[in-house]
Amino acid sequence: MYEMKDEYLTGIESIDAEHRRLFELAEEAYQLSINEFIPDKYDQLSDILDELKSYAFTHFENEEQYMKEHNYKGILSQLAAHNEFREKISDLTLDRNDENTEETVKEVLAFITDWLVNHIYYSDKKIAE
Ligand SMILES: [Fe+2]
Ligand SMILES: [Fe+2]
Repeated sequence: MYEMKDEYLTGIESIDAEHRRLFELAEEAYQLSINEFIPDKYDQLSDILDELKSYAFTHFENEEQYMKEHNYKGILSQLAAHNEFREKISDLTLDRNDENTEETVKEVLAFITDWLVNHIYYSDKKIAE
């Protein structure tokens, strides 16, 4: 469902590796959400989502560091976009009483990966230009 594509490559190796990892984590969460052989997935889904969130935050920090080191002119709009996303997903947690956790996870993943693809494609790719 989710994978890193060549068209997402920025040409900056460390950033591309982190983007790849983000898609891997999203895919891992997605596969878990559709796996019908695990009876109670709440804890596992919750853990993998937390991992995805915290890896996204780590990635933003590393990317911001890279932009500072390279005096990237577009850093302010990058910071604004990262902060907006940080706010949106920081309090995003699963609810144990949610009867449709799998669906919720799918929606969350769709939101996160849509945002990432857009951001990588229209903003991150400019960093190396
Ligand atoms: Fe970025
Ligand atoms: Fe990025």
